[in-house]
Amino acid sequence: MANTPNFLRLISLFQLFFIAPSFAQQSFRPKALVVPVTKHASTLQYVTQINQRTPLVPLNLVLDIGGQFLWVDCDTNYVSSTYRPARCRSAQCSLARSTSCGDCFSAPRPGCNNNTCGLTPDNTITHTATSGELAEDTVSVQSTNGFNPGRNVTVSRFLFSCASTFLLQGLATGVSGMAGLGRTKIALPSQFASAFSFHRKFAVCLSSSKGVAFFGDGPYVLLPNIDAAQLLTFTPLLVNPVSTASAFSQGEPSAEYFIGVKSIRIDEKAVPLNTTLLSINSEGVGGTKISSVDPYTVLEASIFKAVTEAFVKASAARNITRVAGVAPFEVCFSSENVVGTRLGASVPTIELVLHNQKTIWRIFGANSMVSVSDEVLCLGFVNGGEKPSTSIVIGGYQLENNLLQFDLAASRLGFSSLLFGSRTTCANFNFTSTA
Ligand SMILES: *[C@@H]1O[C@H](CO)[C@@H](O)[C@H](O)[C@H]1NC(C)=O
Ligand SMILES: *[C@@H]1O[C@H](CO)[C@@H](O)[C@H](O)[C@H]1NC(C)=O
Ligand SMILES: *[C@@H]1O[C@H](CO)[C@@H](O)[C@H](O)[C@H]1NC(C)=O
Ligand SMILES: *[C@@H]1O[C@H](CO)[C@@H](O)[C@H](O)[C@H]1NC(C)=O
Ligand SMILES: *[C@@H]1O[C@H](CO)[C@@H](O)[C@H](O)[C@H]1NC(C)=O
Repeated sequence: MANTPNFLRLISLFQLFFIAPSFAQQSFRPKALVVPVTKHASTLQYVTQINQRTPLVPLNLVLDIGGQFLWVDCDTNYVSSTYRPARCRSAQCSLARSTSCGDCFSAPRPGCNNNTCGLTPDNTITHTATSGELAEDTVSVQSTNGFNPGRNVTVSRFLFSCASTFLLQGLATGVSGMAGLGRTKIALPSQFASAFSFHRKFAVCLSSSKGVAFFGDGPYVLLPNIDAAQLLTFTPLLVNPVSTASAFSQGEPSAEYFIGVKSIRIDEKAVPLNTTLLSINSEGVGGTKISSVDPYTVLEASIFKAVTEAFVKASAARNITRVAGVAPFEVCFSSENVVGTRLGASVPTIELVLHNQKTIWRIFGANSMVSVSDEVLCLGFVNGGEKPSTSIVIGGYQLENNLLQFDLAASRLGFSSLLFGSRTTCANFNFTSTA
């Protein structure tokens, strides 16, 4: 794509403009869509559900906030009368930024056709990528008015990539692929927004039980009648110019969402850090990203050391006793002197200071401490070692019960802070359908 002349890109945009209206089938135009997001107990993956194919089949998919697109296993039980492979050099293929062209040397079936546009589906949990054809099929999800799910709506030519069954290795049982919500034009948020002409925004509210994700703008109402869209603080989303995928072509930017953490404070005291690590360098290394596929926040080794030392010190000042680590956590405490509060265990507050001193993402006990037994609480951060590609990866446990809104058009992230402070949780969307 890097070498594609500009006029070709213009043509593909132009074609998109004319293709888009045919994606949506019905005259009813939803304002937003809603899907459940359930945490899988043993793998700690967040699993969502959408319906695909004709006739429709409910699919469980691992939710990947920074994932490039939807990919599904087409080798096992893929039956659909509306499956269509995308051809090489088609408008769909350039929308997917692909210039590759694939053939398949066995009988034609979904995932195996000649002269098809090739993509690289990525299992971002195991960091394994393979090649697969770009295809279109019907997708159906529930619309919402922000309060309840409403009627189901269909996108007739939803783009996704096929993968082989082996790519599912490492994913929760019963899952048939991954749902990528990243920055690309064929990730779920952009395709839904163009199919239904709504704002290029989506929101994710993860829970240790059943959370929720919305495509489109708020309200995002959680019981008892709290609109989390009204609770947001905003910070710019940053683009990493170098892809962070397992396989990619030169010049491809990352599909993941980065934010600018400028410093970290613990109980309002700045932690000494090598600030070079906090920005993204020209090779795409460094910075801070948001990830639903890392169960816990991962910190580059020197940041991990500085943050945990400061946390242990601030805990000692609160008379909280350190005990031996419990894998994967290195820093654990006796729960003896830790009292429970509305915001979770009363431990030092970790603050991520963002683009200015007033914009702070606060991590309270409910998001920092993992209870590993009745007696032991661990700091839910893990050591990412030296020279990881991203210095700070804010993982799933730290995102739970915080509503995050990704606004692609304005390139900004809205974050609610811990919803317990507003007397609600991410498990409080009313999934009773009014359709
Ligand atoms: C693709 O073309 C090759 C060579 O013409 C042929 O052997 C093969 O069966 C074809 N595959 C499909 C899936 O049609
Ligand atoms: C609408 O979608 C939901 C959730 O995917 C599903 O449970 C329900 O059966 C669908 N309703 C209809 C009428 O297809
Ligand atoms: C800070 O990190 C950068 C990037 O890894 C490294 O090149 C530099 O030597 C570090 N500086 C210090 C003082 O450790
Ligand atoms: C600290 O904890 C110990 C052991 O639980 C207790 O005996 C002591 O009184 C506490 N001190 C303070 C200052 O809270
Ligand atoms: C959930 O929504 C349904 C349908 O609007 C409504 O009847 C029900 O009272 C709601 N539940 C709660 C707990 O408010």
